[in-house]
Amino acid sequence: MRPKVFVTRKMRDAGLKPVLEFCDADVWEDEMPPSREVLLEKVRGVAGLLSMLTDRVDAKLLDAAGPQLKVVSNHAVGFDNVVVADATARGIPVGNTPGILTNATADLAFALLLAAARRIVEAEKYIRDGKWKTWHPSMLLGMDLTGKTLGLVGFGRIGRAVAKRAVGFDLRIIFYDPTGKPEFGAIKMNSLDDLLRASDFVSVHTPLNDSTRHMVNADFLSKMKPNAIFVNTSRGPVVDQAALYEALKAKKIFAAGLDVTDPEPLPLDSPLLTLENCLIVPHIGSASEKTRDAMARLAAENLIAGLKGERLPHCVNPEVYENRRQTTDDRTWN
Ligand code: DGY
Repeated sequence: MRPKVFVTRKMRDAGLKPVLEFCDADVWEDEMPPSREVLLEKVRGVAGLLSMLTDRVDAKLLDAAGPQLKVVSNHAVGFDNVVVADATARGIPVGNTPGILTNATADLAFALLLAAARRIVEAEKYIRDGKWKTWHPSMLLGMDLTGKTLGLVGFGRIGRAVAKRAVGFDLRIIFYDPTGKPEFGAIKMNSLDDLLRASDFVSVHTPLNDSTRHMVNADFLSKMKPNAIFVNTSRGPVVDQAALYEALKAKKIFAAGLDVTDPEPLPLDSPLLTLENCLIVPHIGSASEKTRDAMARLAAENLIAGLKGERLPHCVNPEVYENRRQTTDDRTWN
């Protein structure tokens, strides 16, 4: 009998095909995610769950699934939607998709930086609004990149990929990451404050967790240079959006480019949407065909490995394997 799984959104064929071949899969076809109630119902009795970043996976959901649940595979590198401790406590490995979306996300961070610095969206709207009457020496002036300082908060895979791109733009690169090692000529800063005070552009590349939630608050923003640009391609809740709004509105910083917001989708009445110096796109960091194919493929590989009782190619809680070995050993001793 093929293992029963629930796939919470129709993903790219590259990943869907192997899942359909190996499993008895229930695939959620709507564009909108299943509601919490539907999700709790759909997971009942499954051996595997393939979740998206929009699905909260916690003790309640895992218990609704039942003790036969063998694996949760999250179709994202970020896994803040999963209460990993709850999965670990139940011996369930959780998979994610690291590495393959590094370049796409770094490209987007750079696109946001360039677009914010050169006021691309505002300039495009300028034409559509019928304001383009002539060429003028002071029309839509933005900021140069050359010779400026880029501050990267977080110097993991994506932060380093942004640094690599920055080299070609003649940026001086600094980073703050207690465990990061200098690469691409980037200089390691001793404190976040030092980085904020020295950067013309600040780009955030940290996961969302208790220590980074609302890390970008009024205090953080007040330490940035008056003409600085802020870019976020990590997770929306890393930023206190009310504080960002105030800083942008009062022109305490020049502009922001955001791929992620809190909440998502951003309500149309969000004050951020009233600002010309805030550029927002709808969480498209990994949204290229090749990258989404690779994510779907890896999510499928994690799911199938878990169903087979094999180690997941990318597991965020490998301690479940230690616990398992311990349990087996315990059984042998008994
Ligand atoms: C991830 O994988 O965490 C991204 O945010 C999705 O693009």
